[in-house]
Amino acid sequence: MQTKEDAKFRAEKLRKLIDDLRFRYHVLDDPTVTDEIYDSLTRELVGIESQFPDLKTADSPTQRVGGEPLKEFQQVKHVSPMLSLTDVFDEQELKNWENRIFRLASEKEIKESGFYCEIKMDGLAISLIYENGILIQAATRGNGQIGEDVTENVKTIQSIPLKLREDSTFYTANRIEVRGEVYMPKKSFEKMNVDRKIKGEVMFANPRNAAAGSIRQLDSKITAKRKLAFMAYSLLGIETEKLTFHEQEHLIAKDLGFPVNTHNQFCEDLKCIENYFERMEKERPKLPYQIDGIVININDENLFKKLGTIGKAPRGAVAYKWPAEEATTIVEDIQVSVGRTGVLTPIAFLRPVLVAGSTVSRATLHNEDELRKKDIRIGDTVVIHKAGDVIPEVEKVLIELRTGKEKEFNFPKTCPECGGKVVREAGKAAYRCENKDCFVVRQRSLQHFVSKAAFDMEGLGPKIINKLFEEKLISDPADLFKLKKSDLEHLERFAEKSSENLINSIQSKKKIEFPRFIYALGIPNVGEETAFDLAKRYKSIDELKNASLEDIQNIRDIGPIVAKSIYEYFQDPQNQDFIDRLLKAGVDIEIVTQSGKLAGKTFVFTGGLENLSRDQAKEKVRLLGGDISESVGKDTSFIVAGKDPGSKLEKAKKLGVEILDEDHFLNLIK
Ligand code: IVH
Repeated sequence: MQTKEDAKFRAEKLRKLIDDLRFRYHVLDDPTVTDEIYDSLTRELVGIESQFPDLKTADSPTQRVGGEPLKEFQQVKHVSPMLSLTDVFDEQELKNWENRIFRLASEKEIKESGFYCEIKMDGLAISLIYENGILIQAATRGNGQIGEDVTENVKTIQSIPLKLREDSTFYTANRIEVRGEVYMPKKSFEKMNVDRKIKGEVMFANPRNAAAGSIRQLDSKITAKRKLAFMAYSLLGIETEKLTFHEQEHLIAKDLGFPVNTHNQFCEDLKCIENYFERMEKERPKLPYQIDGIVININDENLFKKLGTIGKAPRGAVAYKWPAEEATTIVEDIQVSVGRTGVLTPIAFLRPVLVAGSTVSRATLHNEDELRKKDIRIGDTVVIHKAGDVIPEVEKVLIELRTGKEKEFNFPKTCPECGGKVVREAGKAAYRCENKDCFVVRQRSLQHFVSKAAFDMEGLGPKIINKLFEEKLISDPADLFKLKKSDLEHLERFAEKSSENLINSIQSKKKIEFPRFIYALGIPNVGEETAFDLAKRYKSIDELKNASLEDIQNIRDIGPIVAKSIYEYFQDPQNQDFIDRLLKAGVDIEIVTQSGKLAGKTFVFTGGLENLSRDQAKEKVRLLGGDISESVGKDTSFIVAGKDPGSKLEKAKKLGVEILDEDHFLNLIK
């Protein structure tokens, strides 16, 4: 753990950076980082201040709710403060929130109330004041107590009524206040950014920033062009006898002429809330506006009031959010890992941090060029990005937090595994261990050889592979086929039965389809896709071995770097010898003929499939002689559009490519 001295120093740096970021966001409307990074840094500061409370300062960014009102706007004091919400990120935190309420209210009260769940719109909060049914003032939240008068700008938003509907049962000439979210629909946001790009203007980072920037314009003509929208979520000033449940505020607001969210829903318990949360997560990409979670309100207004506030947030409501896809953390070390082709990959060892729902403690830094370009040093504070299940990436360094003690990483001159010489070839990004006998390289290439997409041999885990090497029973994958039961039986923990199983498993895989064989060779830069392309172009391993560089380069989807890598692989006498030995050992390559019913057809996939995985779908197409491409072009025969298709579909439509939905695709491959 850090010393108090370190913590003090770090807290000062964090405070300065957070305050700069806040100023850029709230005052200049020109943020340089995402909200998630801002939150991540603030969380670290909160952590330090709670560990060392006397380090807390009165002006610490942890001591405030919102931004400062812009001086160009009239200031407005809110009749009742515009609060913020406490965030929870998982089931347990939600449960803790409920438990806190249980301590302050009886079970009966909570049961009778239930919860009203709403979508948490990602825009900015606005307060609208109506007198005699007419909109007389609109204000931003500002710092919660004092906001900015943005009435003229708000009047340009078509979904905000300038007067209340007089035929509403709830119409009142009294002063009422409607609060809700001003947001920019995704479509308007995209269109606006395209226009801005064409004009060479700075683009907005996300719809929320765009909405905030648009509402805080000094010229309301600009706001009018920005296509903002509004959704109401609370009402103040309605007579209490008409209002017992929060849910009713939405109904009344709707009746008075305000848009309210149609996805909102009453829930009686946490189970229902969890379901709602999961449903909305699926719904999220399809919604025409951005949301970042759900809001859960104690439905009974009186109970809500009774629960009061804690800090700047009501106890009776909570924001349940999806985990951030970005977070900040510290690079504690950088080490290299040696891969199956001898390439040394730098890996960042990180202070563990929660990103998109899982803890990240290491991330690949790819190669030296990448590392230098991002200038990542040991001790740096970095932004980690992880979308869903995708591998986490170090996005950038927060240079502002450097202390001067960070250390640059230099590649080792010798292999950390075998001590062999390490070189970086001219024109290549990678450092490579030159030692052809490097133990780790041999071990990893064997692992690759037996892996699922290659020879698919069961029972050959890393421990057994090590043992076989140690006992000098094998020196490369070709030796596997020569193994006999008697070689294994004397090995520790190798009973007769398991020796037999392993030998059988190896022998049963001698017959192998050509693409798998090519993939198994472990040619640098050749994945399954490229192996398929090669197997289609060449009729035998001999033909492939003798192919010229030009010929390989002419294959669609194979670029010059990959082509060179393939060509060089087959030129190396050691590799030629390896292939000969595999064939001599009885490996039987099966050539698949291209006469399937999809021969000559190229498929592109976009969006998720429900009945089979993307990989299964691709394999089916290939088995029927078809081709797969990652991008849509003139020669694309079909685009298979699953759920939530991406931009490929738009391109396909423009080019007039035939579009198949999942059902039609399944029919085709039946
Ligand atoms: S209730 C106590 N309901 O989220 C604050 N807020 O983190 C009362 N927001 O400032 C807000 N959708 O800008 C509420 N359905 C919703 C919301 C919502 C978005 C925003 C709002 C608020 C922030 C709180």
